[in-house]
Amino acid sequence: MTPPIDVRLETLTSPTSAAAAPFAPAGVAGAVNVATFYLETFGCQMNVHDSEKVAGVLLRRGYRQVDSPERAQLVLYNTCSIREKAAQKVFSRLGQFKAGQDAGKIIGVLGCVAQQEGERIFERAPWVGLVCGSASYRKLPELLAELESGNRRVTGLDTDTDETFETEMTRRDHPFRAYLTIIEGCDKACAYCVVPFTRGPERSRASGSILEEVRQLADVGYSEVQLLGQTVNSYKDPSPRPRSFAELLVAVAEVPGIRRVRFTTSHPTDFHADIVQAIDAVPAVCDHVHLPVQSGSTRVLRAMQRTYTRDAYLEKIALIRSARRHISVTTDIIVGFPGETEADFEETLSLLEVAQYDGAFSFKYSPRPNTPALAMADPIPEEEMGRRLVILQERQRQIQTARNAALVGEMFEVLVDGESRKESQWAGRTSSNRVVNFTSPRQNLLGNYLQVRVARAGPHSLVGEHVI
Ligand code: 5AD
Ligand code: SF4
Repeated sequence: MTPPIDVRLETLTSPTSAAAAPFAPAGVAGAVNVATFYLETFGCQMNVHDSEKVAGVLLRRGYRQVDSPERAQLVLYNTCSIREKAAQKVFSRLGQFKAGQDAGKIIGVLGCVAQQEGERIFERAPWVGLVCGSASYRKLPELLAELESGNRRVTGLDTDTDETFETEMTRRDHPFRAYLTIIEGCDKACAYCVVPFTRGPERSRASGSILEEVRQLADVGYSEVQLLGQTVNSYKDPSPRPRSFAELLVAVAEVPGIRRVRFTTSHPTDFHADIVQAIDAVPAVCDHVHLPVQSGSTRVLRAMQRTYTRDAYLEKIALIRSARRHISVTTDIIVGFPGETEADFEETLSLLEVAQYDGAFSFKYSPRPNTPALAMADPIPEEEMGRRLVILQERQRQIQTARNAALVGEMFEVLVDGESRKESQWAGRTSSNRVVNFTSPRQNLLGNYLQVRVARAGPHSLVGEHVI
């Protein structure tokens, strides 16, 4: 393929095409200028990492990233539609632009709202020029070429693909943790969830290609990698000699230079003993599992089409608790799913007691387009959902406070990733993904692994001292 950067520079430098070419800087006909882009991301870590890859594609093409939409010729929003509120944010961003005033800019909507709303976005915001869902990111270079040649409305909306999005270059934002998507899409069909519609069917990346990227990451100094997927442990290696997910964890951990391997999100149905064995056997595999339960009531789980019962889920928790290492467990919970009774909700509260989570993200049910739950009877009033959420979060806060208090006096290895404005105050994470704020007499600690003793604990973080 011809290096695309040449195509664009030609557009930018040609005075005759300046009026038609969307990327031509206004009023500077003939000037050699590099097109600029602004990219804002909403939603989950998968989106954050997709944006890192999209930025890589653009930089590779010769674009320059800027930090405000005002300064950019190409403004991209990588969007989330998991709940209504997240989806609304995008339209409020799009509302900031005016067709006349921002005529020289190309506005693009990427990600889940793009996939969900498709060409309807052009109707609501006619100044949008690009609408592209994540299953079409492989086509980004072609779509960009179309925009660069003056095409005003470009879409990538197919979800019918068995390929993953791989880039020659990824512009990583996190200085110490490298994200890596190993499985895209989702083949589960949870009744409340838009992901199977917005991200398409499940497709896994070959383990050889994953390991090659991990080696490259280690070479440039990353020691922590996080393997990503909506259902990361449903990974199915498409290679001729496939590795299981647990084998992949071990293989990644064995790459020289890698000290921590994280993975998220795990689906309970595909969570088996071999993952726990991998954590037990290999210290570099982090002792943390994010295992969304969604509800503690088997009746609600069935209505949610979650493919496991309360008891089956608790067996997975027991499996994790039987490990030699203390594995931290976190979860996601939805309150107020249609038909959820007070008794169902009580079952979720009692599950919190049994499971003893170290963290929980909890949400009010939000009806989503295309999902089976949309048509379900007996919606729970907003106020009642709010009441249940407050009770649940308070109960979980107490559990976390007690669990963290039990860690006072213990020593943890912490990867330092934050520096406080207050002198000699630092922040980092344990292998179990706990946040630790600590003091140290030393300087320049970012990126180091240190031993920290816990002195105090709150519900969401630990406070400690660097032990030298
Ligand atoms: N309403 C509320 N929460 C939802 N989640 C997914 N879909 C919905 C919805 N329609 C939550 C689930 C999931 C997390 C990422 O978001 O708990 O695990
Ligand atoms: Fe959504 Fe369920 Fe797939 Fe998770 S497993 S992404 S909740 S459909």
